[in-house]
Amino acid sequence: MHELKQTRSPREQAFLVGVDWKRHPRGRYVSDAWPVEESLLELARLADTAGLEVVGQAVQSLARPHAGTFIGKGKAEEIAEQLRMLDASVVIFDDELSPRHQRELESLFGAQTKVLDRTGLILDIFALHADTREGALQVELAQYEYRLPRLTQTWTQQVLTRQAGGRAGGATGGVGLRGPGETRLEIDQRVIRRRISQIKEELDEVCAQRAQHRARRRRSGLPTVALVGYTNAGKSTLLNVLSDSDIYVADQLFATLDPTTRRVELPGGMVVLVSDTVGFIQKLPTQLIAAFRATLESLSEADLMLHVIDVSHPRAQAQAEAVYQTLQQIEAVDVPIINVLNKVDRLPDPEAARESLVDLADSVALSARTGYGLPALLECVEAALEAEMASLTVLIPFERGDLVSVFHKRGLIYELEHLPTGTQIEGRVPLEYLPQFEDFQVSR
Ligand code: GTP
Repeated sequence: MHELKQTRSPREQAFLVGVDWKRHPRGRYVSDAWPVEESLLELARLADTAGLEVVGQAVQSLARPHAGTFIGKGKAEEIAEQLRMLDASVVIFDDELSPRHQRELESLFGAQTKVLDRTGLILDIFALHADTREGALQVELAQYEYRLPRLTQTWTQQVLTRQAGGRAGGATGGVGLRGPGETRLEIDQRVIRRRISQIKEELDEVCAQRAQHRARRRRSGLPTVALVGYTNAGKSTLLNVLSDSDIYVADQLFATLDPTTRRVELPGGMVVLVSDTVGFIQKLPTQLIAAFRATLESLSEADLMLHVIDVSHPRAQAQAEAVYQTLQQIEAVDVPIINVLNKVDRLPDPEAARESLVDLADSVALSARTGYGLPALLECVEAALEAEMASLTVLIPFERGDLVSVFHKRGLIYELEHLPTGTQIEGRVPLEYLPQFEDFQVSR
């Protein structure tokens, strides 16, 4: 949803490192459905989104990480040579590095080189895109938790300078990649721990406020539909199309960080609140998910989830699985899901979209860009929400106008008639509203 707030000129040059994990006897490092080349392609997109220019990459086959340098020492030395030749100042590992790996690699590559891993890079992008107080707090927390064990004086200097600028990623004109040469500052780890607990308290407040907002929404009676999906799947585009609005859409990873909610009227008259949330990605570290608790909590309370999948992506299946795994991690699995197979305009046969993915019940082929499949999707949404409703006919006395408005807001009215004794309505209401109408039910 947001434009990158900084541009690098000239762009820092980055070198990517991936590992092709071999089968390990204990099955710990078994390469999954995500081949290293694909994962590196995604890492390159992430680097680009962070404003870096990727100038090279290396892959090593490993059974398990080396204790000191993560990859083999010989390979690391080879990479050090390539960095010098390519004049690259940033090395990004596709897998999570331990603090020790990071330190040893930094000393091997030399003081001019910054070593990052996928998580560190994602955090930097998040920092660039966090616009609201909640988003900034969540990113700041994730950054502190992630970097505390990796703390170096250079980093603490950057972070404190940023915070002085008032935003998680704002002030220094960089995304955490600034190398040596900056003023070194001694930071007591206790100060940072105190800041972590401060942020957690502030986030608790935010969560409480959110819970109140949600309660208010529930009282307003409108069903909520949450958009989830892999980053860049097209969630913001779909929300724009559904709500006829103009939310920022970018061909970038993690353009949307802060949740956006819009009112959408379905063709049958039901009004729902649709919200867009942060995109998911493979290898999303748990501490990051934990930091985004405030944003993600709302998912488990939605009445329906639309899982937006970029079906034109070669890794669509693996991306969808990564989303399901994340939903499990945040325990948002009880909510009914419709799989929206988006970007079918890029396929030769839109209706073949379903065949390219396995195990996806309840799916609709869509192009949020051209509008193809939109009526079918809306019908599915309506049907899924109606499935949670009961049919009834009631005769509501005139003094209970409040119930008539509940029916209008929350239910579906098929027929309404003003009789001398009250308002007779035939329609459907969500199951939880049924008791309120019990005394007024009539048989037809
Ligand atoms: P994050 O913010 O990263 O989570 O992304 P998002 O899921 O909100 O995706 P967004 O709506 O920003 O779209 C990502 C890119 O896909 C943009 O360039 C869109 O124009 C493009 N896109 C979205 N829907 C379609 C579609 O149906 N067809 C095609 N061809 N492109 C689409």
